[in-house]
Amino acid sequence: MTALLEVKNLSKSFGDLKAVADLSFQVNAGEIWGFIGPNGAGKTTTMRICSTLDLPDHGDVLLEGESIIEHPSHAHSRIGFMPDAIGVYADTTIEEYLDFFARAAKLRGPERSARIRSVMEFTELTNLRDRMMGSLSKGMSQRLCLAKTLLHNPDLLILDEPASGLDPRARVEFRELIRALADQGKGVLISSHILSELSETCDGVVVLERGRLVREGLVSSLSTDLSEHQLLFIRSLKGEEALQMALAESPGVVKTRPEADGFMVEFDGSDEDISRLLTFLVSKDLQLVEFHWHQVDLEEMFLSFTDGALQ
Ligand SMILES: Nc1ncnc2c1ncn2[C@@H]1O[C@H](COP(=O)(O)OP(=O)(O)O)[C@@H](O)[C@H]1O
Ligand SMILES: [Mg+2]
Repeated sequence: MTALLEVKNLSKSFGDLKAVADLSFQVNAGEIWGFIGPNGAGKTTTMRICSTLDLPDHGDVLLEGESIIEHPSHAHSRIGFMPDAIGVYADTTIEEYLDFFARAAKLRGPERSARIRSVMEFTELTNLRDRMMGSLSKGMSQRLCLAKTLLHNPDLLILDEPASGLDPRARVEFRELIRALADQGKGVLISSHILSELSETCDGVVVLERGRLVREGLVSSLSTDLSEHQLLFIRSLKGEEALQMALAESPGVVKTRPEADGFMVEFDGSDEDISRLLTFLVSKDLQLVEFHWHQVDLEEMFLSFTDGALQ
């Protein structure tokens, strides 16, 4: 299957500074990919190149197999780029703003009105259509910026830090909009320097540090990469020492690590082996209060992949 977006060996320098170095990754239709890295990692530079706003020094960007560097005009109608800052025209209404950009996207007549109506409905701005842009909250501005990005109904969305500065509620709402767009079959590349912002949203992640790829892959496969063994969290009321001694004589226990209140256990074995471990610990009268499989989250993954420059 040809990827919707394929970034191939992309490099870009500004003077002596290598902003992006030999970066490659892919995004398929219907998937949300998080593009994660600290400030200055090269996210905006990459996204601008993917949106035909800048040219790389080396490498290529393919949209369904066709180079957008060689054929930028084909890409314009299929890519929607949401920059990290929106230009505010304070005394322009939401509807006027969208109408202006719909005209710029060469939408005409009834099609233009229909698209404006559709994107306002999708981003829940219909009731605010006559509000001046200068009076919008951050959440409303970001929804408007997304609405503008969707006017020409692009297949690929490139969203540069869209959640930054949003309050938690607006962030959840924005996340739901992004998920709905992926469910419609659009591919989404969304950047953030805050890991937790994306951890629940993404199908895959590309982690960048100082212009270089640290890790990329589907979230599901990254978590199994991290540890070849299963992780179990176990907590007992009998205290650390008793539990640690029992674990030391249990088959399948590869490693134990004290955590708040309990132990994280790397375990090598089948479900039957886990069941036997539980029976054994219960027989030791350890007063177990927790015994469960531990799902590794994105945050833990990043901490293990990077050297700490990520926040
Ligand atoms: N137009 C430019 N001229 C000079 N340096 C730039 C320019 N754009 C970006 N940079 C530098 O490139 C690096 C990557 O920047 P950027 O892509 O904006 O990172 P991010 O979006 O991950 O914060 C930074 O060190 C930044 O200062
Ligand atoms: Mg940036």
